[in-house]
Amino acid sequence: MIIHHLHGSEIFIGENALNSLPDWLGAHVTSKRVFVLVDHQTELSCLPLFISVMHSRYEIVKITIPAGERNKTLELCVYVWNRLLDYNAVKSDVLISLGGGMITDLGGLAASLYKRGMNFVHIPTSLMGMTDAAIGGKTAVDFNNIKNAIGLFSNPKSIFIDPVFLLSLPEREIANGWAEVVKHSLIADVSIWNDLPVDVFACPSFDLLLRSIAVKLTVVHDDFEEKGKRKILNFGHTIGHAIETIHLESRTVLLHGEAVVWGMLVETEIAVKKNLISADKAILIQQKLITFFCLDKLKTINGDQLINFLLQDKKNEQNKFLFSLITDIGNCSWNCEVEAEVILSSVQKFISVQ
Ligand SMILES: NC(=O)c1ccc[n+]([C@@H]2O[C@H](COP(=O)([O-])OP(=O)(O)OC[C@H]3O[C@@H](n4cnc5c(N)ncnc54)[C@H](O)[C@@H]3O)[C@@H](O)[C@H]2O)c1
Repeated sequence: MIIHHLHGSEIFIGENALNSLPDWLGAHVTSKRVFVLVDHQTELSCLPLFISVMHSRYEIVKITIPAGERNKTLELCVYVWNRLLDYNAVKSDVLISLGGGMITDLGGLAASLYKRGMNFVHIPTSLMGMTDAAIGGKTAVDFNNIKNAIGLFSNPKSIFIDPVFLLSLPEREIANGWAEVVKHSLIADVSIWNDLPVDVFACPSFDLLLRSIAVKLTVVHDDFEEKGKRKILNFGHTIGHAIETIHLESRTVLLHGEAVVWGMLVETEIAVKKNLISADKAILIQQKLITFFCLDKLKTINGDQLINFLLQDKKNEQNKFLFSLITDIGNCSWNCEVEAEVILSSVQKFISVQ
């Protein structure tokens, strides 16, 4: 088992990492009951293993919310607070988020605001959660159709990353998680890029999982509050979030990672237009993204709507569009100013815009 410390969080990574949870709770939490936040899917796929590991040492109070990004809302945060109040939860109780990034984002926010902050722990169960969402202390819900509009930086007391949960993850969700692994390779670790498997629906080896997690840990360790370097983690996310938001409003379901892949494709093009990366290298990257992720067509998007969503992006300053853009495989710059025309022409290369 590997143990990391990151801004007040203890992070346990390894096969059977989950088995360390009861002892960790015994040493750090006085309460004999735990609140467990799950969605309807992780309740079925992950909660039974969680309960068996707890060996009846704790009373388990389950809080279940519906699955999916559309439910990462303030309303469901309120639901969690009501359930905590129903049980007279106090600050020294602990809320354990057992699920993908939707659950850890919402659970982290709910716990951080409840009575000015109760203990919370993350157990990520999706590839996206293990390599990215659960690490780094960003918590949020979507609001008024703006991704992650309401949130705060707040670190869980501990994180247990156990690949056993990946066994029940549907193939589409595995491919979704690969998006962040590939992003980590493009921004900081060419060795991950070189070792990518052929099959996007296969779980990564434990070694690759560790290298991907290492990128996130290093970047966050150096710049927790995202004053500078941490912005490289946003590569693919400026366009990705806008595309994800546009699809949130429509019937076509597009997962976060799927939107980020489109974002990386377009933002690599922007990097070419801004003379940050050579056209040859960009083509190599883009072709690999298209084949590895088996990309098909996206629905036509409205250019004005896209620009409007980009204006809401938290990374912007003084109404300038600021991007994190790769300069090579394994290297990324941040705060790159990009003009609206460059954005739209780069989007148009891959997605039809009306
Ligand atoms: N806080 C951050 O730094 C950060 C970083 C990246 C992504 N995110 C957020 O994370 C979310 C995406 O995360 P996600 O892709 O994990 O989405 P998710 O939490 O919605 O999970 C995807 C689906 O997989 C199911 N699932 C999860 N684990 C499972 C398992 N072991 N077996 C079977 N089914 C399982 C869930 O029930 C859900 O239906 C987005 O909201 C995104 O904004 C946050």
